[in-house]
Amino acid sequence: MVLEKYTVKTSDGSSTIFVPDLDETYHSTHGALQESLHVFISEGLENRSDLKDLSILEVGFGTGLNALLTYRAAAELELKVKYTTLEAYPLDWNTVRLLNYTHLMQMEKLKNKFEQMHTCKWDVFVELDSFFAIKKLKMKLQDVRLENEFDLIYFDAFSPTTQPELWTEEIFASMYRSLKPGGVLVTYCAKGTVKRALKSVGFLLQSIPGPPGKREMSRAIK
Ligand SMILES: C[S@@+](CC[C@H](N)C(=O)[O-])C[C@H]1O[C@@H](n2cnc3c(N)ncnc32)[C@H](O)[C@@H]1O
Repeated sequence: MVLEKYTVKTSDGSSTIFVPDLDETYHSTHGALQESLHVFISEGLENRSDLKDLSILEVGFGTGLNALLTYRAAAELELKVKYTTLEAYPLDWNTVRLLNYTHLMQMEKLKNKFEQMHTCKWDVFVELDSFFAIKKLKMKLQDVRLENEFDLIYFDAFSPTTQPELWTEEIFASMYRSLKPGGVLVTYCAKGTVKRALKSVGFLLQSIPGPPGKREMSRAIK
């Protein structure tokens, strides 16, 4: 079944996608851009930027906003990034092109890269630049079997209320296995049950200030 989707504006002026049947947006309504920048770039990527050469796994490619911000940050911070991203229900470019990210970021020159991210081949690494390669895996998170591969995970699934099956001990154990020792998982979620599940599979948990509109977020370390 293909669910209906609408483009909506969030409080910082950036757009996101709303899915009425799930009553869920792809990002925080308090600010899509601010949320991604805070949770994934500042508290995730920048926190690990000492590595210079990073392997990242994203759960939920969605609009590609996290991938786009990572590309930009990697260029600015002179990082080399291998970006693997999971998506079970890809959006089509005709929907994504209506989002105002490249315009808002005053980076019209990123438009091409953004389109390439969405239209490039699945299941293989595609080099978008010498410092950034992306591999989109069209699969369900539940089917992932990866070991000791990633320095950083952006865990950006729909909320535990909408998709409780993606926030279980079993899933977090699989995320733990997929990280290298010292690897870090960041997520916008700070729900008690989620924090307990993360701890129970062995993560060291840090509850840190969240983006605007959210008191806390979680950083989990292997
Ligand atoms: C919160 S949105 C992701 C937002 C995205 N990171 C962005 O920057 O736009 C969650 C994403 O997870 C995807 N998804 C839902 N169920 C999934 C599953 N079982 N496995 C992998 N992806 C899934 C959805 O299609 C959606 O794109």
